[in-house]
Amino acid sequence: MISKEVHENLKNASWIRRMFVEGSKLREQFGDENVYDFSLGNPYFEPPKSVTNKLREVVNADIEGAHRYMDNAGFKDVRQKVANAINRDIVKPLGFEHVLMTVGAAGGINVLLRTVLDAGDEVIIFAPYFAEYIFYIKNHNGVPVIIKTDERNFEPDLELFEKSITAKTRAVLVNSPNNPTGVIYSDETLKKLGEILTKKEEEFGREIYMISDEPYKALVYDGHVVPNIHNYFRHSIMVNSYSKSLGLAGERIGYIAINSQFEDAELFMSGLAFANRTLGFVNAPAIWQKVISDSLEESVDISQYQVRRDLLFKKLSELGFEMVEPKGAFYLFPKALEADDVAFVMEAKKFNILLVPGSGFGYPGYFRISYCVDLGMIERSLPAFEKLVAYYKNK
Ligand SMILES: Cc1ncc(COP(=O)(O)O)c(C=O)c1O
Repeated sequence: MISKEVHENLKNASWIRRMFVEGSKLREQFGDENVYDFSLGNPYFEPPKSVTNKLREVVNADIEGAHRYMDNAGFKDVRQKVANAINRDIVKPLGFEHVLMTVGAAGGINVLLRTVLDAGDEVIIFAPYFAEYIFYIKNHNGVPVIIKTDERNFEPDLELFEKSITAKTRAVLVNSPNNPTGVIYSDETLKKLGEILTKKEEEFGREIYMISDEPYKALVYDGHVVPNIHNYFRHSIMVNSYSKSLGLAGERIGYIAINSQFEDAELFMSGLAFANRTLGFVNAPAIWQKVISDSLEESVDISQYQVRRDLLFKKLSELGFEMVEPKGAFYLFPKALEADDVAFVMEAKKFNILLVPGSGFGYPGYFRISYCVDLGMIERSLPAFEKLVAYYKNK
């Protein structure tokens, strides 16, 4: 018998999963061409050729010992190359000793939370949030504390943030570029978050970590830049992966990089290595560590995502949808055409459009469109969006 808790979670299957199942049913009924599935955040583009070529090269090299167990933090040369890449826009540079290779960002966040949380410790997250955060925090006996962002710009409400920090707060988890809003936190916002955390650390006499979950860091538009989190707060920790930037979501490769200003860096890194080992990851995939370490300048073709964003943003704005223009990632997060976002998503389904309700991200009244999809599908979907809007006008 599975545990009561897991059973309960299965009963409340995530919205993204539910829409996936709905999509399969609709495709059977109407055919692939006539279903417009915007529900999944699965990178659409293949990895750059240089990355798959590098993979062949690494495999063919037949290096003795390349497939054995290693330091739980990963290969030293790989960690150094990752640190060098992070150092490009940093004030206090990192060394290999500040980097631990992980099984994607998801693995990284779990390793990190396992390392820092005592039972009952609070982790602040900003809604709308990546739904898995709630599970990750609970996995390690933490308590999620959810703060709603301002719907005009989806930036954190700093006053509310300050008030929400308690003697139990151990971390704040920020995600920029954001899933589901595409917002990039500005230099100004990060500075203020850092100042508030510094003040609260002094007040409560303990570290509060700023965890920056950055798997979309390379996916930015119009020349926007994602600020380096380590320049804003002493106890910052980056979690990143190559799932989106290199289209390697199924390969499970990423890293954690702590701020070099940590007073207890060595102990902290030992904690991370322990958590990586005892959570059963042991170390990040060996071959993929080698491949990405020589692909750090590469990226999937972002202009392809930009074309999709521009087309959908323009068309949906013309149709009257209210939304913030995403600066990064590959999602739009418009306001639903009725207050009940779940009811709205169900109505959209009648036009064969699959969306995810904002409730799935802790932000009712909105919905998410993932545009990491076929451009032809977006074009075919536009008349269906028109019909959906007309339906609401006549309702
Ligand atoms: C905000 C956010 N964080 C983390 C992840 C997990 O990414 P990874 O594939 O690197 O584990 C995702 C995946 O969609 C995400 O959207």
